[in-house]
Amino acid sequence: MEAKIVLLPGDGVGPEVVNEGRKVLEAVAASHGHRFDFEEQPIGGVAIDEAGDPLPESTLEACHSAAAVLLGAVGGPKWDDPQAEVRPEQGLLGLRQSLQLYANLRPVRMIPELVDASPLRPELVHEVDILIVRELTGGLYFGQPRLLERIDGRRRAVDTLEYTDDEIRRVVRLAFQLAKRRRGILTSVDKANVLETSRLWRQVAQEEAESFPRVRLEHQLVDAAAMRLIADPRQFDVLVTENMFGDILSDEASVLVGSLGMLPSASIGEGSLGVYEPIHGSAPDIAGSGIANPIGAILSAAMLLRHSLELELEAEAVEQAVQQAIADGARTADLTNRGSISTEEMGEAIIECLKQR
Ligand code: IPM
Ligand code: MG
Repeated sequence: MEAKIVLLPGDGVGPEVVNEGRKVLEAVAASHGHRFDFEEQPIGGVAIDEAGDPLPESTLEACHSAAAVLLGAVGGPKWDDPQAEVRPEQGLLGLRQSLQLYANLRPVRMIPELVDASPLRPELVHEVDILIVRELTGGLYFGQPRLLERIDGRRRAVDTLEYTDDEIRRVVRLAFQLAKRRRGILTSVDKANVLETSRLWRQVAQEEAESFPRVRLEHQLVDAAAMRLIADPRQFDVLVTENMFGDILSDEASVLVGSLGMLPSASIGEGSLGVYEPIHGSAPDIAGSGIANPIGAILSAAMLLRHSLELELEAEAVEQAVQQAIADGARTADLTNRGSISTEEMGEAIIECLKQR
């Protein structure tokens, strides 16, 4: 197969980890007879520096014409001024909105050899396998009005939480479909005891449940879900929730499996085009030192192969190579406090495992 893949390395450790993701994709192309054409474009802080715009038109055009997008991270202290009109994060949010990527899939799966990297007791986390489905183009992130104003000498800020039933339905339906192919348990997370949007969310989830008799739907309030994620994470199979709750719960869930650096994500919509990115941020504290964990980006590349290119076998090969490298003892600094290897060495170890298959 031939496919154009746009690379958006972005800021901080983004370029370092995307580079390893790209090498893995190149290795897959070479071993399976595919041709991937890579095109690199700026997004986030680097795009502000280059073009004054966190999402330049040329970047957006390249993404629209691609088969898939692999993204690193955006943001950093250089662009953190709360007064600033343009911010790196606007590039990412604009991209999600423009491509209508309404669902963000964040799998959180324990690799057995990493049980000790988790701060939680092994018996709690040893079989964790959760898929978080986060709504990505609605809610507080996009609701209007949003403003900061000054009235009577006081400052007042407004963000708006809004959802329509069709916005809820499409992401909940996707979550049901995914749950059906897994263990058949769907936890819908909301704050229905307080929020109107959550009561609508709950109703729509209930309506959708009728089309999926083999999936067990349960509703959970977000505060209780946050607790249960730590107290009893193995209870979860698929968890679906709105944008902001999903942002928070997915960072929390990453702790279960040892490191934020391990986790990939896929942002998808109606078509096959998707944006794939590690869930970690730009990690400015370690940027440039070559020690970032590239596994989140590499597993994101595997999700890209699966969802956008429909190359399931290749996706599995990458995932197994990651497991094998970990089983062989490869550890970046976030996973161990002695004998760690660099970003590039981790990439090489994984590609070596891929070649041996
Ligand atoms: C994420 C990030 C983004 C988000 C930020 C960088 C805007 O935290 O992808 O989880 O909140 O969606
Ligand atoms: Mg986040």
